[in-house]
Amino acid sequence: MASDKQPLRIGLIGFGCVGQGFYDIVQQQPGLGLAVARIAVKNPDKPRPLPADRFTYHADELLADATLDVLVEVIDDAAEAFRLVSAALRQGRRVVTANKAMLARHLPELVQLEQNFGGALLYEAAVCGSIPVIRTLDAYFSHEPLRAVLGIFNGSSNYVLTRMSEEGSDYGPALAEAQAQGFAETDPALDMGAFDPRSKAVILAAHAYGVFLNPDEVLNLGIEAIGAADIAHAAARGQKIKVVASVQRLPNGRVAALVTPQLLGPESPLFTVEHEFNGVLVEGEYAGPQFLRGRGAGGHPTGSAVLADVLALRRGLRYGYAKRPTAPAVQPADELALDVYLRHADVGVLREVLTWLELPAAALRTDVHGVYATGVVPLLRLVQWRDELRAAGVFVARRGEVRLTEVAEAAGSGHYQVDEARLA
Ligand code: HSE
Repeated sequence: MASDKQPLRIGLIGFGCVGQGFYDIVQQQPGLGLAVARIAVKNPDKPRPLPADRFTYHADELLADATLDVLVEVIDDAAEAFRLVSAALRQGRRVVTANKAMLARHLPELVQLEQNFGGALLYEAAVCGSIPVIRTLDAYFSHEPLRAVLGIFNGSSNYVLTRMSEEGSDYGPALAEAQAQGFAETDPALDMGAFDPRSKAVILAAHAYGVFLNPDEVLNLGIEAIGAADIAHAAARGQKIKVVASVQRLPNGRVAALVTPQLLGPESPLFTVEHEFNGVLVEGEYAGPQFLRGRGAGGHPTGSAVLADVLALRRGLRYGYAKRPTAPAVQPADELALDVYLRHADVGVLREVLTWLELPAAALRTDVHGVYATGVVPLLRLVQWRDELRAAGVFVARRGEVRLTEVAEAAGSGHYQVDEARLA
């Protein structure tokens, strides 16, 4: 372990957008007492901004190097990231990761490894880039019952939506811009299909409520099928479409999570969160509403979160997961419903979608852009038909809060409404 006089020796695994952003910040602040001692990357042929002798092409060499005080894992291969991070934790190492997909799949196991072997794992950079939301939930709100944690958790899709609504850009060029600026995942379908914000919602649920959700069971609907008609439909009502992830406690005490595009009005603080910025609303039982906003993607903003974790590890910080012993049950999707807006350019496809979702033909509506549909749909049906909806290119957005079905309401659980207006 580094003494006060020796720099903390960091082993950096991955030198993409986040890795370079972190490296750059460390180089610009020599007074921090940090040294990126070794860097591991996968591809020896890729051009890089540092001399080739700065790199190794075998990440396992960093695992075997006991002189490294902290390992920072910022690669985008979730399976390899899990192999490396879990191996490091088995050695009792101090580790920082930014890999949200890996964390969402393996968090219970990783927390167990941390406890069993005495290491430490921090991952602020995995959720909402520069916004310190995990530490806020884990430490500051460790004993505050939370009504909801919700927001815009993906910078790339928010960037695309902003460009489409402000500049009238088409979807394709707007996505290409988000990719060029280093906001998007290597596979941008993870961003546009809302898989990435779903992973982030799953991670936040562990800190906000103590629950480890299965990502596959969390509804994620994205914006791959969005068109100018949808943007214009919202604008005509004074609204915008934003991809909103939410984890919330229902009146029956259970927790529900989902990620979907949502029609929002100016009363929501998310309305003005644009480009790659993210915004997180935390509704505390006693504290009331809080709103965090900041850059959700990009090398320097995300590198800043990695840096904060490295410095926190030096101080001995670990996450507390204080709510795990009192974790509530997860609300089954078959007792939830959503009021949705659906559109497809081909009315024949839209009619078929109505049968999938058991909506009546009367759900069809017309505006100046063509035909769309609205109606209240059981959440389970959207989960069951999620892949078909994506494959058919149907755009789906919710028009309000998730609600308990009549069956659940009859059982006395009632309809829970997060007071977004109060947060404005
Ligand atoms: N692709 C992610 C996003 C990067 O656009 O938000 C930050 O996690």
